[in-house]
Amino acid sequence: MEDVDKGKRTFLKAMGVLAAGAAVAGVVTGVVKNVITQPSGLSAFPTLQIVNSDGSPLHTNDVPINEEHPFLFYYPLDNDPNFLLRLSHNTSGEITLPPSRTVIPATGQYFNSPGGVGPHGNVVAYSAICQHLGCVPPIIHYYTPGSAIPGHPSIKASNYPWGVVHCNCHGSTYDPSSGAHVITGPTSHPLPNVILEYDSITDTYKVKSMVGPVIYGKPTDLEGGTPFPSGTKTTPVTELSSI
Ligand code: FES
Repeated sequence: MEDVDKGKRTFLKAMGVLAAGAAVAGVVTGVVKNVITQPSGLSAFPTLQIVNSDGSPLHTNDVPINEEHPFLFYYPLDNDPNFLLRLSHNTSGEITLPPSRTVIPATGQYFNSPGGVGPHGNVVAYSAICQHLGCVPPIIHYYTPGSAIPGHPSIKASNYPWGVVHCNCHGSTYDPSSGAHVITGPTSHPLPNVILEYDSITDTYKVKSMVGPVIYGKPTDLEGGTPFPSGTKTTPVTELSSI
């Protein structure tokens, strides 16, 4: 009788160990699965409403013309800052910026830049991370037509009547009127271009995707950050530091 009880206890103990082992294995599998399925980045560019810092939809008049420190918004992930510029020509004012072909000096390849949108076709957006070594606003910012550009006295309003984007870290200059192409190095890449969509009925803006070089410091535009929590609108940029 005692041997039978002993045998039963040994059997039950063995079952207990197996059950505990299975439970642990289940937990471990769950953890591994969780780690593997955690979202990191995106599989495609999202379409997001561009909003003001109070969360309301951005309208054209929320964007000052030729603003030295332009409106910033994050896209496609919540740590990727972009400029939104409403440009005015030095003499002609708010006129349409047509699509253009923009060269990437580093490779000799071209990409199609979208041109401007908005009621006058002069609102454009670009990555606000310098393509040379990653400096961010306010070190890289917009200079109105005819402003003195440090170290570049030859950049004049007559040559660049829409103004320029210039990075004070090491002197790279980009033309925001045509694909943010490179005016002066050391960068050998234009700023990545942001594709915008304008709704003329509501006077609001959506951001749809990006073209051109990959955002500086990232393996792809869609990796290396967190998607927006709402999945429907951008988030305002509050503070930046160079990377
Ligand atoms: S990081 Fe902008 S010029 Fe070097």
